[in-house]
Amino acid sequence: MRAGEQRNGAERVADSFRIAVFASGTGSNFQAIVDAVAAKKLDVTIGLLVCDRPQAAVVERAEKAGVDTFAFRPKEYASREAYEAEIVQELERRGIDLIVLAGYMRILTETLVAPYYGRMINIHPSLLPSFPGIRAIEQAWEHGVKTTGVTVHYVDGGLDSGPIIAQRPVDIREEDTLDSLAAAIHAVEHELLPHTIGLIRAGRVSLDDRRVRIAGE
Ligand code: GRF
Repeated sequence: MRAGEQRNGAERVADSFRIAVFASGTGSNFQAIVDAVAAKKLDVTIGLLVCDRPQAAVVERAEKAGVDTFAFRPKEYASREAYEAEIVQELERRGIDLIVLAGYMRILTETLVAPYYGRMINIHPSLLPSFPGIRAIEQAWEHGVKTTGVTVHYVDGGLDSGPIIAQRPVDIREEDTLDSLAAAIHAVEHELLPHTIGLIRAGRVSLDDRRVRIAGE
């Protein structure tokens, strides 16, 4: 097969599964997804970045990667539901199959959660249900746990409470500082998030009430 034919074939497959990433800040997890796609380790199309802070570094990363962005200022809307309704329109327009929350710092309402339940995942830097909410790495550090980690879960209406898809532990060593722990957790996130998206894309993940099953694991 010639190079052009191969490329066309790959594009056709990738086009059939479209994800949207929601992020508010640095976007290192967004970058990990971009890199996995570029390296052909993850066969999806990143159809949209949604960001509630137009000045965030992640917006620049999306520009560089050629990913469409919907950046908005929450204050310019009458309610959460109002901007979420606009986001839903943007998602539907692009035929998004899966939403990936990767450091998206806004509370979600039913406007977004209901239509995408089972098609929206979040990455959280602790072993849920321990340390939900903000500053999870700091919470675990301050609590003095010996093992923390990373969780990828489906999103429901609660705070980091949806069905768990994947978890990886990260041990806290004697010589760790908060910074070295955060770096270790982010390194695990950057591997686990693209991996989990790949499992969903491959149709291997099924949701049965709270229990998530992964075929072949
Ligand atoms: C990550 O630690 C993620 O688990 C949490 O927010 C952070 C986002 O970091 N939900 P980044 O913007 O992807 O670098």
